Amino acid sequence: HAEIARVKNIKVISMGKFEVETWYFSPYPEEFCKNDILFICEFCLEAVGTKFQFERHRKKCQLFHPPGMEIYRKNNFSFYELDGRKQRRYTRNLCLLSKLFLDHKTLYYDVDPFLFYVMTQNDKNGHHIIGYFSKEKLSAEEYNVACILTLPQYQRKGFGKLLISFSYLLSKHEKKAGSPEKPLSDLGLLSYRSYWADVILELLYNRTRSEVSISEISEETSIKEDDIYSTLTNLDLLKYYQGKTIICLSNKNIEYHEKNLKKKKIKLDPDSLEWTPPK
Ligand code: COA
Ligand code: NA
Repeated sequence: HAEIARVKNIKVISMGKFEVETWYFSPYPEEFCKNDILFICEFCLEAVGTKFQFERHRKKCQLFHPPGMEIYRKNNFSFYELDGRKQRRYTRNLCLLSKLFLDHKTLYYDVDPFLFYVMTQNDKNGHHIIGYFSKEKLSAEEYNVACILTLPQYQRKGFGKLLISFSYLLSKHEKKAGSPEKPLSDLGLLSYRSYWADVILELLYNRTRSEVSISEISEETSIKEDDIYSTLTNLDLLKYYQGKTIICLSNKNIEYHEKNLKKKKIKLDPDSLEWTPPK
């Protein structure tokens, strides 16, 4: 069906210590869009149209972290779990905010069927939102992520892959394989491909036994078999030998992985997760 692409209505948002240019239209109330800049409280995500209103808001706002349950904390990073039904106002604000950076035609106003996992970086001033992903409470397609976003001021530092990694950590606890909802944006696909490659190469690299099947890789990583297959194909790891398909690490793959190991990256600590899957 035809839908008219809507013109970008907000140029810049001010959030915490950052001013960020927006990418797409988001249905904020018109009265907020009269000025070029929208002020967003980084703790409750309420938006106001002027700096004066914003300062008045901050005097009243009691929040210094996202609402909901803190389910992970390690060093200065936390993850919060929010229920769209319980934290409706915050999660709607989060959807409005993320629409500024998502090219989807539709936005989920109906936040009730979703859980939201918000990642924060913590300092003496509070727990500052870096990004989040949403997840359907019940997904017939076994999606483990609906929407995923790193706020632009934090992008390209590895946080997207950290969010992805957290989504698979939850799937491991659920003893399920999961996959992100399709279609993914270009940046989403790039990030997932890179994450899948990292995880699968690491597993193969550390493997001592010679035989490994796609279903075994899936069991260990909670990555869906289709995504493993496409990653193995993209990395050119599948070879046909005497009528059998085998997974074969080339020197190129090994070099890539060894270079990857040397990069400084924040890793999740699975033991810092305090969470049981919701029933
Ligand atoms: N250009 C080229 N490569 C990019 C890139 C860009 N603008 N942004 C990220 N990448 C690459 C990184 O190099 C990295 O690969 P590498 O580890 O192999 O080098 C990989 O993508 C992930 O980068 P990372 O820093 O972990 O991700 P991020 O914090 O920048 O977040 C998204 C990635 C997708 C969450 C972020 O771009 C985003 O929020 N986009 C808008 C919302 C969206 O499209 N979400 C997905 C669909 S729901
Ligand atoms: Na999506």
